[in-house]
Amino acid sequence: MSETLDSLLDTLAAYPATEDAACFTLPPAAYTDPGLFALEKERIFSREWLLIGRANDIPDAGDWFTFQVLDDPMLIVRGTDGRIHALSNVCRHRYMPVALEERGNDKRFVCAYHGWVYGTDGRLVAAPLMEGSTGFEKGRCALPEYRLEEWQGFLFINLDDAAAPLAPQLREADAMLANYKTHELVTGFAYDTIWEGNWKLATENGMEFYHHMGLHGTTLEADLPARTATMDPAPPSGRFTHTRCRYAPQSLDRADGFGNWPRPHCSFSEPERTTAYAIGLFPNISLAMSTATLNWLSFIPLTPERTRVIGGFIVAPEMAGDAGVMAASNDLVYRVNEEDAQATWRLQQVMRSTKAAAGPLNVREGTVAQFYKYLARTLEPERARGMNVAAE
Ligand code: FES
Ligand SMILES: [Fe+2]
Repeated sequence: MSETLDSLLDTLAAYPATEDAACFTLPPAAYTDPGLFALEKERIFSREWLLIGRANDIPDAGDWFTFQVLDDPMLIVRGTDGRIHALSNVCRHRYMPVALEERGNDKRFVCAYHGWVYGTDGRLVAAPLMEGSTGFEKGRCALPEYRLEEWQGFLFINLDDAAAPLAPQLREADAMLANYKTHELVTGFAYDTIWEGNWKLATENGMEFYHHMGLHGTTLEADLPARTATMDPAPPSGRFTHTRCRYAPQSLDRADGFGNWPRPHCSFSEPERTTAYAIGLFPNISLAMSTATLNWLSFIPLTPERTRVIGGFIVAPEMAGDAGVMAASNDLVYRVNEEDAQATWRLQQVMRSTKAAAGPLNVREGTVAQFYKYLARTLEPERARGMNVAAE
C-alpha cells in the first residue's frame, strides 16, 4: 500500500467518530490517488447496486440499450416475456460485443463477427456452420446475466452475483418516497455525458443545497435559497442521506422548474409540499425532487478524474403533457446540471495544488459528512472500527 493511500485511509477512518458539524472535506489526494480509486472499484463499484437507467425508457419487448460498468459491457434488454435482463454484451464465440449501438429494438441479436444469434433472454438460438465443432453445445453458450433489480422505476445492476437483494435495503427510502409516487414519473429529458472530475466530487455536489447561493445563484437560489436548507436525520440503515430546501414563498406554487404541478391523486405532507428534497443514495446517486418532478443523476467512474454521468429529469405524467412548461423546466434543469458539471471540473483542476487543504463543512453539508462516513466503513471497515475504539 502506498503512503498516500495509507494516509487517506487513516483520514477516512476518523470520520465515523466525528460529529457531522465538525467534519472537514476529504484531502485533495482522495480525488486523484490511483490506489484509492482501485480500492473504490473493488470495495464499492464491484459490490454495490448501481443505477443505470429507467424501466419506462425501454417500455416494449425487445427495447434495449448498452451500458458499461467498470470493465463489464452490458446489454440491457426487455425480453419478449416482459422481464428486463442485464446480459453480458460479449459474444460466447470469440468475444465480439453482440450489440454495437447505444440502443434499439430487436427480437434477435446477431453478432457482427460470425453471425451467432441470441434471443432477448440471452439464449443462443443459432450458430452458423458449427457442425463438426465437437466442443460446441448450444445450450452452454447463452450470454451470462448480471443481477438486475427495479426499484421505484429505476434499474439497478450489481456486478457481484452474491450481493444481497436491493429492495430490503431501501425500505426506509421507500417510506420517504411513498407520497411522491416516483414509479409513476416519466422522462422529460435524459442526460448522458462525461464530467471531468472524480465521482466523489460529483456525488457530494448532488447531496447539498448550500451551493445554490454560489454556483446556482442565477438559476435556483431565488426559488430555493441556500439559507433555508435543513438536514433530515440520517436514516438508521446508513444507506442514504437526505436534506430539504424550502421554497421561497413566491415560488411555492410555480409549476415550471423543479415544479409542484398538481397531482390530484397524491397527498403530500407540509414539508413535502413546501420544500425540495434531495436523497443521496450510496454510493453515487442523487435524487433531487419536488412534488411533481425529480432530477436523478448516477455517477459512474471511468478513471480517478473522469466520470460518466447518466440521469434524467422525470416528471408527473400530467405535467409531461404541457409542452410549454416542459420546455422551460427541461432547459432550467439542463442548465443546472451543466453548472454542476463545471464545478466538478473546476474542483478537479486544483486537486494537485501543493497548498490545497481540507476545509470545514457547513451544517447544511451534514450529508457530505455522512457520505465520508459511508466511505470509511465501506472501504476499510476494520480501520474505521479501530479508530472508533481508540476515540472512546
Ligand atoms: S465472435 Fe460472435 S459470432 Fe464469432
Ligand atoms: Fe447543483
